[in-house]
Amino acid sequence: MDEALIATINKLQDALAPLGGGSQSPIDLPQITVVGSQSSGKSSVLENIVGRDFLPRGTGIVTRRPLVLQLINKRGKKETSDDLLELQNEDSKKGQSEDNVNEWGEFLHVPGKKFYNFDEIRQEIVAETDKTTGKNAGISSVPINLRIYSPHVLTLTLVDLPGLTKVPVGDQPVDIEKQIKDMLLKYISKPNAIILSVNAANTDLANSDGLKLAREVDPEGTRTIGVLTKVDLMDQGTDVIDILAGRVIPLRYGYIPVINRGQKDIEGKKTIRLALEDERKYFENHSSYSSKAHYCGTPYLAKKLNSILLHHIRQTLPDIKNKIEMTLKKYQAELVNLGPETMDSPNSIVLSMITDFTKEYNGILDGEAKELSS
Ligand code: GDP
Ligand code: NA
Ligand code: MG
Repeated sequence: MDEALIATINKLQDALAPLGGGSQSPIDLPQITVVGSQSSGKSSVLENIVGRDFLPRGTGIVTRRPLVLQLINKRGKKETSDDLLELQNEDSKKGQSEDNVNEWGEFLHVPGKKFYNFDEIRQEIVAETDKTTGKNAGISSVPINLRIYSPHVLTLTLVDLPGLTKVPVGDQPVDIEKQIKDMLLKYISKPNAIILSVNAANTDLANSDGLKLAREVDPEGTRTIGVLTKVDLMDQGTDVIDILAGRVIPLRYGYIPVINRGQKDIEGKKTIRLALEDERKYFENHSSYSSKAHYCGTPYLAKKLNSILLHHIRQTLPDIKNKIEMTLKKYQAELVNLGPETMDSPNSIVLSMITDFTKEYNGILDGEAKELSS
């Protein structure tokens, strides 16, 4: 049921993409949106959650268009027993290679093609980014939609956004700071957006631009979850315990400390699998964290995101249903006005996708209602 719920939301996301995706979408879908300063570790966090290297990275502004990343767990087993690290350990025991036929990516703008090579996924993201933004650091709010099917991921929808920056470079307009801020605000101001606020633990949380922005739209911190990266780079004798205990800037969903690969690790081709193992050991062996190591690290973050997203979808189901019905009516009326020759127009394709979705969605809703009443 959980899987089906997120899968239907994913379908609707695709159906609405031609209308301008996230920001212009008439329906506010629950999704997890990543915000933070440039180089705070956003891409690293996403890669660790997926367990594969596939995002363009480097210094400076690398993410220049929103990336709607739909992770789909494609083994039929029940989700509740899932644990990212468990899955990965199990897999390494089987000795499967990294280039697994069970893992692939699909882009909405490249219909029908399965990308088994994750380097190729990265190249496609770069090429598709350049297509709308030019090569010289320009930005665009038109999203790229990527699905990743894998037995190693929990089903989740994440949106990667450009990092907050202050100084224009390359072809960037002088008001780049405002442009990026406006783009982020469009995504995170919707009540259905869950904000994943990424902050480097070796910088002052009170000065975090990402958290500041999150608090502008979610002042009570009820739909913001904090991630503290670079815990390994903190000064000796300091830790994030005060932040975790909610004594600095409290958030309802709290903060999760993680450790990603540093630049040197990446240059040395350290695998994510090894990085996750080192991350676990770090928290288990550190005097500040050992008693709560279970609540630290990437696998716990992935699990928590999955449950927050499900909770959020359930809460917003009735509202989404109303909006879908209104949108459906609007498109039907528009098409009637335009006449029969427009039946192959993008709008009519959207209409048929929404219609299909609604049928499926109503089935799910009935299932949910039965589950609740039983
Ligand atoms: P983004 O700009 O927010 O997407 O940040 P990136 O994920 O590209 O990371 C920026 C730099 O910080 C890269 O060189 C990463 O290797 C490094 N980095 C990210 N997270 C960590 C961490 O937890 N520990 C260490 N040591 N380095 C990290
Ligand atoms: Na970067
Ligand atoms: Mg990035």
